[in-house]
Formats: sequence, structure tokens, C-alpha cells
Amino acid sequence: METGQTIWPAESQPTAAATRVETMRMAQAREAALSRLFMAYISTGLVFMLLPGTFLGVWNLLQISGRESVALVSPAWLQAHGHAQVFGWIGSFIFGIGFYSIPKFRGTMKPALGTAWVCWAMWTIGVAARWMANIYLVQWRLLLPLSAALELTAFLIFFRMVSQHQPETSGKGRLEPWVWVVISASVGLMLTLIANLAACIYLALRNESPALSHILDQRYLTLMTWGFLVPFVWGFSTKWMSLFLGLKPVRPRLLFSALAVNFAGVALTLMGWGAQATVFFVVGTILIIAALRMFEPARQEAKTRGVHPSFPFFVRMAYGWLLVAALLGVGAALWDSSGGIWGASRHALTVGFIAVMVLCVGQRILPAFASMRLLWSIRLMFIGLLLLTLGCALRVSSEALAYQDYANWAWSVLPVSAFLELAGITAFAMNIFGTFILEPSHAQKQPLVVRIK
Ligand code: HEM
Repeated sequence: METGQTIWPAESQPTAAATRVETMRMAQAREAALSRLFMAYISTGLVFMLLPGTFLGVWNLLQISGRESVALVSPAWLQAHGHAQVFGWIGSFIFGIGFYSIPKFRGTMKPALGTAWVCWAMWTIGVAARWMANIYLVQWRLLLPLSAALELTAFLIFFRMVSQHQPETSGKGRLEPWVWVVISASVGLMLTLIANLAACIYLALRNESPALSHILDQRYLTLMTWGFLVPFVWGFSTKWMSLFLGLKPVRPRLLFSALAVNFAGVALTLMGWGAQATVFFVVGTILIIAALRMFEPARQEAKTRGVHPSFPFFVRMAYGWLLVAALLGVGAALWDSSGGIWGASRHALTVGFIAVMVLCVGQRILPAFASMRLLWSIRLMFIGLLLLTLGCALRVSSEALAYQDYANWAWSVLPVSAFLELAGITAFAMNIFGTFILEPSHAQKQPLVVRIK
């Protein structure tokens, strides 16, 4: 007899049913642990979004409006806001969704939870350290490269973990198109983080302040937005929008063409042909809209159970904003003399496209991932999206007019736009926190693997 082997008296041998119950119990415990990790990432993202992200964005805009010039506001503060939104908010969300869903969709239930928590700590400390360096200038020559190194390391751990989960029972062999789009976006994120580290080391060694120069910042922002954020949203749209909106099947050739044209635009910008690249972004956007068949009649009804019925409208509108952002980019390359048209283009992209999509898709999927909860308030979802969209429309239209000195009254519209957006973003955060804290989990009653229907 082997030592440690359990000897069961004949009458208490575990039955097949008891073993099944035990297996279920362990799987549910793992599911609960994974959901806790997921909620930690999402909650961290929401805190970054609200405080260092949106509050600082509003503060910056109030200062710009008060002084009637963007040039009189600290570039380190502007960049701190962008970093908190893109990495603190969107980055944390991507990590949380990635850790939660990829291992499952790929057939295994054993994500290395400890490593995922270490990754969370590194990422969170990295983003927070950047905030301290840029805003308070505390030991910024040390904190800047340290924060960038932590962020890059956390990403590399994340990337390794999610990419080593091979499908166990996949008979398909080939990866689906959406996976390629997400992989390309992940490469974009990695390049952005490498560029960020290189820039931070350079600033720490050579610069008088923790802010990138205007020219470097413009290129870096293009890599971050068109090279990372945009393809991520395209990837998840390819995966989910046919199902959620009932669209006709995606056209893969157009999808890959959109991706190729878009990355060509990013490469051109990095080589210093930013003005020419703007045309590539317009073409890439038109191609992706055609590939996803976003504005074609749907083949079946949209699935809006658990979310507000306006969900399909806002998703389509987000793609409208993407087109506006791309077209404004061309306008900026031709006429911008103050940063106003560039700012309007970037805002149409970051708020109109990215944030609206996150508010739509996030409220559709996050409650289910958090131990099968329901969204706290469907009405609040609509209110948040409406306020954010109104704010974005006011901002994008008045920013170019004000900064370019086309219309002086537009300066007084900008603060209104900032408060509307702040209210919209706050409604989203309240709804997700309300879901996590106040809504009961239905995980015990559901099958263990969450599928989005
Ligand atoms: C919700 C309210 C927001 C407000 C009031 C706001 C405000 C601002 C302001 C005033 C600037 C300075 C440049 C300019 O004048 O246009 C800026 C830049 C920027 N914003 Fe926002 N923003 C908001 C949301 C967002 C979101 C949701 C994202 C990303 C997901 C974002 C990402 C950025 C980036 C990347 C920059 C460029 C920073 C740089 O110059 O390096 N913003 N924002």
C-alpha cells in the first residue's frame, strides 16, 4: 500500500455522484477566484478612469478654457491624463478580460492566479507611479523609467500567460480572424509600451521635465491610438458584433485589408509622414466599417437582453465617431495651427469611439463575467451613454472653433462639454460598481463556462 493513500471503509466509498459534486464544487471555487481577480482589474480600471483620468481631463480643459490656450497648460499634466485613461483604464480592462476569458474560451480552467495577481500589482503600481512622476514630480527621474519598466514587464507576463493556453479540443487548427486582429492589437500595445519605456529613459536622462516634446508626443499618440486602441476595438467588434447586433457575417478580406492599411498609416507616422498617414486612417476606417457591415441591414434582431435597447444605436454611432476622427485627422494635417483640430480628432477617437464602445460592450459583458451578475441599472446605462455622447459632440465641435480662433464663444462651451462627459463616465462607473456590490451572483445556478449570448 502506498503511504498517503486514503482507505475508504466499504460503506463510505465516494459514489460517482459525490465525486461529480466535489469536482463541481472545486470548479465553482476556481470560478469565484477568477471572478475576484477580474473584478479587481475592472475596479482598478474604473478608479484610474475616474480620478487620474477624467477628473484631471476636466481640470485640464477648465484651465485651457480659462487661459484660452492649450500651450499655457503643463504638457506633463496633459500626458498624465492620457496615460491614466489609456493604460490605467483601458489597459486594466484588457488585462482583466484577457485573464478571465481567454483561458476559458481556450478550454482550460487553470489560469495561474498567483501570477495574474502579481501582474495586477505591477501594472497598478506602474500606472500610479507615472501619475506621481508627472503630477507631483516626486523623484520623477527614477519613477518615470521604473513605471514604464513595470508596465512592460506586467504586459509581457500577461501576454505569455494568455498565449500559452492552447485549445485542448479545437479541431479547427486555424485561428479565427478576430484572434488575428486582437494579436495585432497586442503587438501594437507591446510596441507602445516599449516606446514608452524608451521615451521615459530618455526623459529621465536628458530632459528638464517628465513631458515628451510635442513632435515625439504626436507620433507616440498615433502609435497608442491607431496602433493599439483602435485594433483592439476592431478585434472585439469582429468577435462579438455579428452576434450582439445581428449583423451579417464579417468579410475577412476587407477586415485584413483594413488592418494592413491602418498599420501602414501607423508606420508612416513613425517615419515622419504623419500628414500623409491621415489618409490611410480614413481608408482603414471605411474598410473596417464595410468589413463588419456595421451600417448594413441586420440579418436578425439585436440581442439587447440585460442592456438598454439603444445599445445597437450607440455601437453604430461609435463607428460614426471613428470616421469623424479619421476625417478630422486629414483636416488637422491641412489646417491645424493651434492643436485644436488634432485635439478634436483625438477626442472623437478616444471618447466618441473608444469610450462609447467600452460603455456599450462593457455593460453588456462585464456583469456576466463577474460571477454571472445582471447589470445594476439599464436606465443608468442609457443616461451615461447619452451624457457622454452629448459632451463629446460639444467638445469635438467647439474645440476646433475655439483653439483655432474661429469663434470666441466656443471657449465657453468647452467646460460644459467636460462636465457632461464627467457625468456620463461617472454614471458608467456607478453602474459597474453597483453591479459588483449590489447585484447578487447567479454563478451557482449557471453552467460554469460563461458564454455571451
Ligand atoms: C471624459 C472626459 C475627458 C476630458 C474632459 C478630456 C480632456 C482632455 C484634454 C483637455 C486634453 C488635452 C489636449 C486637448 O486640448 O485636446 C486631452 C488629451 C488626451 N486625452 Fe482626454 N479627455 C477626456 C477623456 C479621455 C478618454 C476617455 C481618453 C482615452 C480613452 C482620453 C485620452 C487622451 C489622450 C491620449 C490625450 C493626449 C495626451 C497627450 O497630449 O499626450 N481622454 N484630454
